[in-house]
Amino acid sequence: QRQPLIAGNWKMNLNHLEAIALVQKIAFALPEKYFAKVEVAVLPPFVDIRSIQTLVDGDKLLLKYGAQDLSPHDSGAYTGDVSGPMLAKLGCSYVTVGHSERREYHHEDDDLVNRKVKAALKHGVTPIFCLGEQLDVREAGNHVQHCTDQLVAGLKGLSADQVKDVVIAYEPVWAIGTGKVASSADAQEVCAALRAKLAELHGEDVASAVRVLYGGSVKSGNIGELVAQKDIDGALVGGASLDADEFTKLCALA
Ligand code: 13P
Repeated sequence: QRQPLIAGNWKMNLNHLEAIALVQKIAFALPEKYFAKVEVAVLPPFVDIRSIQTLVDGDKLLLKYGAQDLSPHDSGAYTGDVSGPMLAKLGCSYVTVGHSERREYHHEDDDLVNRKVKAALKHGVTPIFCLGEQLDVREAGNHVQHCTDQLVAGLKGLSADQVKDVVIAYEPVWAIGTGKVASSADAQEVCAALRAKLAELHGEDVASAVRVLYGGSVKSGNIGELVAQKDIDGALVGGASLDADEFTKLCALA
């Protein structure tokens, strides 16, 4: 059985003091027994991670945390980058890879995304591998093909065992930060197609083990309907993850 995952992608928001305050509020609002059912993770900016680690370790919180990107390299002359070993050392459970904002603003292509997925796996940090179509692709009716192509490219060269350790996040670009959530049927259509492609590539075992999340304008008001879909195992939450009340309400409904 796949354990649902709700991951809050804070994007470039909240300094380390604000991060501590938000994590404390989330931990206070969600009862310990909740975490046996649903995994909850926060993905803050790099500069917040050490503070969150200290808080989580010190108070033995069950909340997980991670990062929003990593370098494909382990170390070296890569000014401004942060490596997989560094994230692992800070106790990161997850790292998003290939988010559409990285693809757009940092020109990340499928090959780089693939190398980042491999770097995360190599260091024991679970990649949350993001993919999704732009509006024009959906309007042309090519969204399923586009997303399965991105899936194949991002997972290129991985063994079946490695693929089992990847979390996939379907995030239609037109639904990110726009308030326009995909209908649960539209989200399910793509998530099911991604799972079918995993089955084709690596067998039913792998396909049924991999968690597939939906992301794009997820809120407490729509999470229930989304996670009720057969192939949606949780959510990657942007804006709604910055507000403790809204985020914990959303988690409780997942
Ligand atoms: P919003 O929830 O703000 O639409 O952002 C989604 C997202 O990009 C999460 O990674």
